[in-house]
Amino acid sequence: MNVQKKIIYWYEEHWEPGFIKWWEGYETLALHDGLHENGVRSFKDALLNMNDFVAKLLGLEKDKEMRILDAGCGVGGTSIYLGNKFPRAKFIGITISRKQVELAKRFARERNFNKNTSFFVMDYMKTAFPRNYFDGIFALESISYAPCKRGFVKEMHRILKPGGKLVVICPAMRKEKINPVLEKIYRWYHDGRGNPYSFPVLSHLLEYLKGNGFMNIKVRDLSKNIVWSEVRATLISIPYVFSVLFKKMLMGKKYNASKDPDFYLAVAILAPIMGLSKTSGYYAITAEKAARIIHKFFLQ
Ligand SMILES: C[S@@+](CC[C@H](N)C(=O)[O-])C[C@H]1O[C@@H](n2cnc3c(N)ncnc32)[C@H](O)[C@@H]1O
Repeated sequence: MNVQKKIIYWYEEHWEPGFIKWWEGYETLALHDGLHENGVRSFKDALLNMNDFVAKLLGLEKDKEMRILDAGCGVGGTSIYLGNKFPRAKFIGITISRKQVELAKRFARERNFNKNTSFFVMDYMKTAFPRNYFDGIFALESISYAPCKRGFVKEMHRILKPGGKLVVICPAMRKEKINPVLEKIYRWYHDGRGNPYSFPVLSHLLEYLKGNGFMNIKVRDLSKNIVWSEVRATLISIPYVFSVLFKKMLMGKKYNASKDPDFYLAVAILAPIMGLSKTSGYYAITAEKAARIIHKFFLQ
C-alpha cells in the first residue's frame, strides 16, 4: 500500500469506531484534540472552542468577505462551524480522502451551511489553486501528515495573498534528536495513527516559514490546553490495549495491528509518556505572507 493510501485507509476505517464513538463525531465533526480554556466544561465544548480559536487567529470578522482554505479538512467540522458564524466568508476544505469529502458535503447540506463551504479531494502539497488566491489558510492537526514540511509551507505561501495569514495548529517536537526508546514510542504512536511521517520539529518549521517569505511569526504553546483531552484518550485506550495484546497472543505473526481499528485507540496509552518526557508539545503558529517588496529587500 503506498503511503497516501495508508493515510486514506486509516481515516476511512476509523471514522466510525474511533471518531463517531469517542469524538462526539456527528455533533462536532472534529478530528482533533480540542482546546480547554476557562469556561470550557466538556470535551464537546473543547472541540467546538478550537473552531472559535482558529477564527480568532485568522482574524475572521462577521461582515468581511474572505476566502479561507482548510488544509487537511477531515469531515469539514471547522469549516462548517465557521461557515455558519461567518456567512460572508468562503471556506474551501481539502483532504486526500474521498469519503471525507463526501461526508463533509453531506454534513454541510444537512446543516444548511453549504452556501459558503465547499470540499475537494486534493493534496495540500500540490494544490490546484492559483497564486495569491486565499486571504487565510489554516491547517488544524494536519501538517504531521506532510511528507515534507518545507514543501507544505512553500505551497501554502504560493496560494496565500500577500498580507494573508497562515495558521498551523499541531503537535511538534521540541528537540530535533530524541533518545532511541522514545523514538520507538513515537513511531508506534504515528503508526497507530496511520501516519508514515511524523510531527514537525518546531524550530525547523519556524525556519521554513522565515525562509519562505513569512513574517510576524508567532508561536503559542497550547500543551497545557490539551492535557485533559490526552488524559481522556489515555483512559479510553485501556480496554483497547488489552484487546490488542490478546489478539497478538492469539494470532501471533498473523495479527496486523495497522489494520486493526483497536490499535489506533490503544496507542493513546503512549501519550502520557510522550507528554511527560517533554520532547513534544502542542502549538498554534501564525504567520503572515510578506508583501513581495518586503520579502525581496528584508527577508532574503
Ligand atoms: C487529524 S485530521 C484533522 C482534520 C481536521 N482538520 C479536523 O481537525 O477535524 C488530518 C487530516 O489531514 C488530511 N491529510 C493528510 N494528508 C493530506 C494531504 N497530503 N493533503 C490534504 N489533506 C491531507 C487527512 O485526510 C485528514 O483529513
